[in-house]
Amino acid sequence: MSALRPTNDDSAIWDLWLGQFRLPMVNVNDEVGTFKALSEAALTTDALAAQLGVDARALAMHLAALCSMGLVEKRLGLWRATHLARTWLHPDGAGYWCHFTRHVDYNTTLRARLLTSLRTGKRPGDVSEDTGEVKPRSVEWERGTMSQQVAADIANFMHAHSQAPALGAAAQGVFGELTSLMDIGCGSGIYGIEIARAHPNLKVVLMDLKEMAAEAQKFIDRAGMGARVTTAGVNMFTEQWPRGHDGHFFSNIFHDWSDATCRLLAHKSYEALPVGGRIFLNEILMDDDYTGPFVAAAFSLQMLIGTLGKQYSLAEFRDILGSAGFVDVEAIRTGGGYYSLVSARKP
Ligand SMILES: C[S@@+](CC[C@H](N)C(=O)[O-])C[C@H]1O[C@@H](n2cnc3c(N)ncnc32)[C@H](O)[C@@H]1O
Repeated sequence: MSALRPTNDDSAIWDLWLGQFRLPMVNVNDEVGTFKALSEAALTTDALAAQLGVDARALAMHLAALCSMGLVEKRLGLWRATHLARTWLHPDGAGYWCHFTRHVDYNTTLRARLLTSLRTGKRPGDVSEDTGEVKPRSVEWERGTMSQQVAADIANFMHAHSQAPALGAAAQGVFGELTSLMDIGCGSGIYGIEIARAHPNLKVVLMDLKEMAAEAQKFIDRAGMGARVTTAGVNMFTEQWPRGHDGHFFSNIFHDWSDATCRLLAHKSYEALPVGGRIFLNEILMDDDYTGPFVAAAFSLQMLIGTLGKQYSLAEFRDILGSAGFVDVEAIRTGGGYYSLVSARKP
């Protein structure tokens, strides 16, 4: 008996970790009154947010997840509770289940974070167990620097998370049309390494903050890909981007940041690419009408409680990339788990 090599499909694991959002999210929406309000009237996201006293951006993410679970539906821009929610989740109904679902919801940390972020629109802070003091939380990379140990920890957890989708991305023939690809915010470098492995004429530069670039170098060495894959320690916000690459690849980068920051990154990419150069965003996409699917919507809630971003739709990416000047924005499911590859061209 021995371990098997990773394949391009780890969707069962994604279902496992994102499935944990279902119950706390339903309980949180019961607590703020979503199901009662949408049983009484059809409302826009903004009107519902105002009525419930919650943040509209966060509510949009919750509604997408609830919709993908069949509990609410959206028609002509108005949300309604479905028959399922009106029967079992209306607090005044005979069938009301939430006395029970609250009782069996053991994931108190996740429920508290979902509730705080829904109410405030902000990433919840960490509450000190000793003093009760709330400390703002951020991901280390938002400071633009991190200890080598933190970089190693992030590289390891991102590596686990990204192996299957990296194999899916690497299988895309479009990378064979490039001569040099820069993997921006590369983490462990698994994407750039697998793309280089699958396309023998391609050179790849793994770019990240310098501590993370040093970790990525270890993964290059381990993969024996040093002849065609190198690293660059660059802060993508504060430093000049290396030139000379006809492709820029971002995986799970735009989803960490606000719409305004995504526009800045798209603009910096456009500036650094030659005419004809391509930008690629490897992401789990929301549907264009923002009503699911569940995995994208739950991943978006993960972004809400943990980062400054969310999962975007292709419609949103088309707008963001178009605002920088990119054309021919399209997306394809890669076969790497739930991921899609968005691509666009500098005309
Ligand atoms: C969610 S991880 C994605 C890693 C990898 N692309 C993947 O999908 O597995 C985000 C990455 O962005 C990097 N990052 C964050 N801020 C950065 C900055 N200012 N400049 C360069 N990289 C940055 C982080 O260090 C981290 O490796």
